[in-house]
Amino acid sequence: MKISLRVNGSAREPDVPPMMRLLDVLREELRLTGTKEGCGEGECGACSVILDGEVINSCLVPVCQVQGSVIITVEGLARDGRLDPLQQAFLECGGAQCGICTPGMLIAARALLDENAHPSREAIKEAIAGNLCRCTGYVKIIDAIEQAAEMMQQSRRKA
Ligand code: FES
Ligand code: FES
Repeated sequence: MKISLRVNGSAREPDVPPMMRLLDVLREELRLTGTKEGCGEGECGACSVILDGEVINSCLVPVCQVQGSVIITVEGLARDGRLDPLQQAFLECGGAQCGICTPGMLIAARALLDENAHPSREAIKEAIAGNLCRCTGYVKIIDAIEQAAEMMQQSRRKA
């Protein structure tokens, strides 16, 4: 079945079994391996992508359900060779250790900052509540998201 998608700004049309998981279509057919599989059961958030503006677990979604959708994966965050402020802040704050959770964290954080440019720490915790991290203890991740929000506000003020 041909599925028409817009992925990270490009039209894509994978020809795949309709019940193939979106996660597998992204990783195996479209070679976007930034999206990770942790649990495969909707529990960890490693496979998060933004689907039509909402964060979803791509391990739970058969690709036939997303015909015509707009998808953003972690590969779509950097623009023109420049890291997204979130990626920069994760680097600077030590928000990534083993890195398995990082793409999903970045996606959840991107969706939050798209909705709310000034999130409180509580709002940040809520936004990443579906994303598990075994390494960082979360504090540096929350710091990084706060820092990214601040960086984005500063660049808006300069513009
Ligand atoms: S791999 Fe999808 S939620 Fe864990
Ligand atoms: S950095 Fe290892 S699971 Fe989060």
